[in-house]
Amino acid sequence: MASFPLMKNDLILRAARGEETERAPVWVMRQAGRYLPEFLAVRADHDFFEICRTPALAMEVTLQPIRRYSGLLDAAIIFSDILVVPQAMGMEVIMNPGPHFPNPLITPADAEKLPKVVDVDKELGYVYEAITQTRHALKGEVPLIGFCGAPWTLFSYMIEGGGSKTFHKCKSWLFKYPEESKALLNQIADVCIDFLVGQIKAGAQLVQVFDSWAGELAPHHFEEFALPSLQRISSGVRAKLVAAGIPVVPMTLFPKGQNLQIALCADKAGYDVIGIDWCIDPADARRAVGDKVALQGNLDPNLLYGGRDALEREVKRMSESFNGGKKTKAWIANLGHGITPGVDPEDMRWFLECVHSHSAA
Ligand code: CP3
Repeated sequence: MASFPLMKNDLILRAARGEETERAPVWVMRQAGRYLPEFLAVRADHDFFEICRTPALAMEVTLQPIRRYSGLLDAAIIFSDILVVPQAMGMEVIMNPGPHFPNPLITPADAEKLPKVVDVDKELGYVYEAITQTRHALKGEVPLIGFCGAPWTLFSYMIEGGGSKTFHKCKSWLFKYPEESKALLNQIADVCIDFLVGQIKAGAQLVQVFDSWAGELAPHHFEEFALPSLQRISSGVRAKLVAAGIPVVPMTLFPKGQNLQIALCADKAGYDVIGIDWCIDPADARRAVGDKVALQGNLDPNLLYGGRDALEREVKRMSESFNGGKKTKAWIANLGHGITPGVDPEDMRWFLECVHSHSAA
């Protein structure tokens, strides 16, 4: 592995390992993106996936929030998208403005036509390059997060052909073709394993698996269909890192909306951190998972539209609930989902400042 600048801030890595921290480390899902004028300026000249595929541009956009909120963010997340995995599996994806698959999977016969073996390092090597360059450019200021989409979430895009309100196409697969669905979920998981290992080799210091549509599944269907492929990823990544003699990094699972199953995730999914959305109280989440995992979250992203007073009040409340009157421990502050395009960047700054001032117990 390449050698990188010494870390000046490892707060998020300590929290992810379940340690006490002087305050909660903070970053925001989708922190590089459409609410930032400097991102829109880059985007005006380049297609979305062109930015992802050009390491210098992906690095620039990754660093934009780190520069703007200098000293306030405790992690960078590499600029890319969860949909680069279906692209690596041979599917066409365009962003116009949301994701669109011109040729979605309609029946399991279509899934049969996907390549059985994917050379992930060749297909997604541009992400690794962006990570290595960004890790150097960060100069140890904050750790760099790598990521991928969870198999269930990617399966839903590959079958629905884009976003969905009802998820009826991908769910009909689960119920009509359960065995074929499980095989496809595992096939996606295997690509995710190689992709995460490649990102870690390239310099990612923590990796997150985004299961954005986990909450669309009934709890028992989450357990039957989504969980096995999530376990496959966590154990597969660790096994490959150990075999290659590479230090294992913390892994985060964000099973959005599946708050009734976070205890199961903490017990069985094999991740160090579980991300929670705003529909569960942090104290209840902590009771559910015990000391097994660190927690990440969980402010309602719409509080960034709610004015400074409400934002401060809610950050205080969130902090008290996560800390439970004890020392700040095993908590990574974040929103409960991604920041949205209409947010005023100065309100985002206020959120970060409030976490700095109120997250220490
Ligand atoms: O977090 C970051 O700052 C890193 C970059 C990042 C993007 N997408 C950039 C992006 C990350 C981590 C993602 C993850 C992602 N992509 C998820 C999981 C997280 C979540 O919010 O649930 C999902 C479901 C996607 C799929 C996706 N990509 C959608 C639905 C859309 C369109 C709607 C939207 O959120 O903007 C995208 C496009 C996308 N991905 C943009 C960005 C900055 C905007 C595209 C543009 O510039 O036109």
